Amino acid sequence: MNKTEYIFSVLYYVSILSVIVIVDARGRGGRVFDKNYVVTWGNILKFNQGREVQLLMDKASGSAFESKHNYGSGFFQMRIKLPLRDSAGVVTAFYLTSKGNAHDELDFEFLGNRGGKPIAIQTNVFTNGQGNREQKFVLWFDPTTNFHTYGILWNPYHIVFYVDKVPIRIFKNKKRFGVGYPSKPMKVVASLWNGEDWATDGGKAKINWSYAPFKANFQRFFDSGCHMDGQKQSGKFCGSAIYWWNRRIYSRLTENEEKAFKHVRTKYMNYDYCSDRPRFPVPPIECRWNQ
Ligand SMILES: *[C@@H]1O[C@H](CO)[C@@H](O)[C@H](O)[C@H]1NC(C)=O
Repeated sequence: MNKTEYIFSVLYYVSILSVIVIVDARGRGGRVFDKNYVVTWGNILKFNQGREVQLLMDKASGSAFESKHNYGSGFFQMRIKLPLRDSAGVVTAFYLTSKGNAHDELDFEFLGNRGGKPIAIQTNVFTNGQGNREQKFVLWFDPTTNFHTYGILWNPYHIVFYVDKVPIRIFKNKKRFGVGYPSKPMKVVASLWNGEDWATDGGKAKINWSYAPFKANFQRFFDSGCHMDGQKQSGKFCGSAIYWWNRRIYSRLTENEEKAFKHVRTKYMNYDYCSDRPRFPVPPIECRWNQ
């Protein structure tokens, strides 16, 4: 290799390297907590240059964070690792919610348990302030030892709750049949709080504070929805197919997703408001479409 060749090959590698560094920085930028999220309550710790945060709860306080933006549609995913060991009475939540009266809300709530017993995951859908649409599952893995991805897809067609790649719940947009559908600007929120009055064993299993502080870890702080801040952007625009999560392929489950959905609901769902006859002698109207 002569001198010119040498210089060119060095330049070549330097340019490749800088492209890699730039691409990597952009990818990471989206994952950094401070870019898209703020702490709203209590104490949290940040790790890994802000790409991972830890919510803490002790006797004095729980903790929470929320997105800076309001959204009108999107695919919101977060990687979460739940509190270790005995977490009876401790609730870890990841949800979307609007502010003010008659609110819309889409919930994942992880209900802690006595050491060794499985952690239940409760989902709920609020439209115009009306909830009472709980569905509960046991998880097919231990959510306290590793991160898993929990996702909420919200587009004009439906809402889908995902655990890793598996759709566990669907709520279809049946507005034309008079079923409420979330349409208000919502923020992404995560919290760790004291739910010992209801969360475990119907409220009988209280928090054992000798395990405090309880810790839940979160990663992936992307800005993954259509912004709906102030009056600038209408909800209609957030339904546009320029956003990938609104495309036709996201208007229904794929064949494989449909299979996984049926399997999970047969095997792991242990409460469904749609089949709670003492509570709803006549099942709520949306139930016929969301099975
Ligand atoms: C709380 O946990 C500690 C440590 O494992 C145990 O010794 C204690 O009996 C527990 N308390 C209750 C009320 O279960």
